[in-house]
Amino acid sequence: MRIFITGGCGFIGSHLVEYHLNKGDEVYTVDNLSTGTLQNIESFKDNPLFHFDEADLLSWPDLENTINSADRIYHFAAVVGIFKVISDPLSVINTNIAATERLFRTIAKSRAKPIVIHASSSSVYGNSPKSPLNENDELIVKPPNHPLATYAISKIADESIALASFRAAKVPVIMARLFNTIGPRQTGRYGMVVPRFVQQACQHEAFTIFGKGTQTRSFCDVRDVVVALDLLAQEPASVGQAINVGNNKEISINELAEIVCKCAGYSNPSHYMTYQEAYGTEFTDIAQRRPDLDKLFKLTSFKHQWTLENTIKDLISRYKK
Ligand SMILES: NC(=O)c1ccc[n+]([C@@H]2O[C@H](COP(=O)([O-])OP(=O)(O)OC[C@H]3O[C@@H](n4cnc5c(N)ncnc54)[C@H](O)[C@@H]3O)[C@@H](O)[C@H]2O)c1
Repeated sequence: MRIFITGGCGFIGSHLVEYHLNKGDEVYTVDNLSTGTLQNIESFKDNPLFHFDEADLLSWPDLENTINSADRIYHFAAVVGIFKVISDPLSVINTNIAATERLFRTIAKSRAKPIVIHASSSSVYGNSPKSPLNENDELIVKPPNHPLATYAISKIADESIALASFRAAKVPVIMARLFNTIGPRQTGRYGMVVPRFVQQACQHEAFTIFGKGTQTRSFCDVRDVVVALDLLAQEPASVGQAINVGNNKEISINELAEIVCKCAGYSNPSHYMTYQEAYGTEFTDIAQRRPDLDKLFKLTSFKHQWTLENTIKDLISRYKK
């Protein structure tokens, strides 16, 4: 199979590249290396089945040709991470909306319409008080002057672009609403909590906890996520659907710090920072986030292979190496 991955040098994109190369597929990727790195593709860059262009999706001249020869597309290029979204909101619009519109417009015009797995996000649920979050729930988004609203709105706009392309141009698309994904190659640079805690534990530094640490999240290993996405792509009933992808075990950030301590064998203290101190701006965090996974389980035979503890132990041993 020929697989085209946008954002293949990023965290999740590089795992999709690795997964499909291991299956013997030919993989094409485009990435502008804004947050992705060459280090993420170092171990497969010499694989003859792997093709990489360093370019911006918004202007890349080979987009049409690559789409025409693809059997499956994963659209994972995006501007992600709280620090990045706050510091460069225009890049969110340019990549998450304009480049996504260009991609779907080009697919809509293509001869053979390959299946598209679009990386949507739990951010589309915004501030919904419901738990667990179900695909049919209302999407409740903060006013546009909230620092994270641009990202949430861009991801909702993406789903609208994807759905319009499905309805009007028969582009077969699956909107995978990813919840917090963790694993090797994720960086803490743009605000992601697990790689930051692992680094702090291994360097015997205090954990920096933003807010009170009572906010909850549900973390899923990226190696489970790529399997779930592959299974969804093989299920015709997934097409035209928004589907939650993640893990439904929910924990608070304070509990996460305790687990990282236990796995690292240290007892690090925690240093609490207000959101104002952490992000340099007024900020209200999402209090809790847990996916309802019934739809994913009904559509596929997917089963999680990684527990949070096992992922953290793996990350700690990789960090130490
Ligand atoms: N990591 C998570 O927990 C999570 C959760 C929900 C949704 N997602 C979605 O999954 C996707 C991948 O996220 P990630 O965590 O791997 O982030 P990432 O930043 O590691 O990957 C994004 C990649 O896209 C590339 N990119 C950005 N703008 C580009 C452009 N204009 N042209 C070409 N390449 C560009 C970056 O260089 C990077 O390699 C994103 O769409 C994100 O919204 C991630």
